[in-house]
Amino acid sequence: MRAHRFERALDPEAGAVRLVALNGSPHRDGNTATLLRWVVEGCLEAGARVDWVHLADHEIRYCRGCFACLRAGVCAIPDDLGTVRDALVSAEGLIVGSPVYGGQPTAQMKTLLDRLTLLALYTRTFERHCSVGVVTSGVAPTGGVARGLASFFGRRVGAIGAKTTTVASGYRPLAQAHDPRLPARARALGRRLARDSRSQRRVLFPSPRELWFQLLEACVIRPLVLRHPDDFAGVIDIWRREGRIPTQANRRRRPLRGP
Ligand SMILES: Cc1cc2nc3c(=O)[nH]c(=O)nc-3n(C[C@H](O)[C@H](O)[C@H](O)COP(=O)(O)O)c2cc1C
Repeated sequence: MRAHRFERALDPEAGAVRLVALNGSPHRDGNTATLLRWVVEGCLEAGARVDWVHLADHEIRYCRGCFACLRAGVCAIPDDLGTVRDALVSAEGLIVGSPVYGGQPTAQMKTLLDRLTLLALYTRTFERHCSVGVVTSGVAPTGGVARGLASFFGRRVGAIGAKTTTVASGYRPLAQAHDPRLPARARALGRRLARDSRSQRRVLFPSPRELWFQLLEACVIRPLVLRHPDDFAGVIDIWRREGRIPTQANRRRRPLRGP
């Protein structure tokens, strides 16, 4: 058991918990932003500090599927991914929002997921984060998309969704027409995220999901990576930096190949 992976700051009470609200909608002030804002209000009530990232403000190009990130430890495409990634990684908890487009998150959000996914899997980018998924739609169910987003970005604390269109009222902005209990539910979820993100600093024992992933890591991911050190040179460097493998495990590694 690697206890350091479950410990947070040295002083768990020090400082406000830092959260990021990630809006994957093309609209800065659309329905998704409205629901996100209510969750954020709950976080603020619980004493958290929240920064916003609007994906639409950033240039995130499509994943090229080159696997260079596994060899280099960073994505090879020169765009805003690093800025967005750093903002997410430096937070302790994430509120991740998207509207439903064709039953899925938006292309902006999906592109971000594609760009993050390989290193997130092999190096556990978001293993210490708590997360909440926030999804709006016209009429479609939102739960699956919201839970999927939350699970990608860490330990899922909860998910919330809202449908914005009815036959009676047609398309109305969520801020103007919504279930009257929705803002309170969203704020309660925000408060829970802030509280859980703070207590995550002190978590010493892994959850069953975490134990399952550790098993997968030990039986599949680690042997795969260490048997193919050239293909996974970037992953191995990150593991070494984070103390996940002893330095000598990497002794036979040959020089990096280009993408
Ligand atoms: C291109 C596009 C695709 C959409 N696809 C769906 C869908 O599959 N199911 C659904 O219920 N609503 C769909 N909607 C409606 C949006 O999910 C809904 O209006 C959402 O609240 C918009 O959020 P926003 O204001 O943050 O952009 C779609 C909207 C657009 C523009």
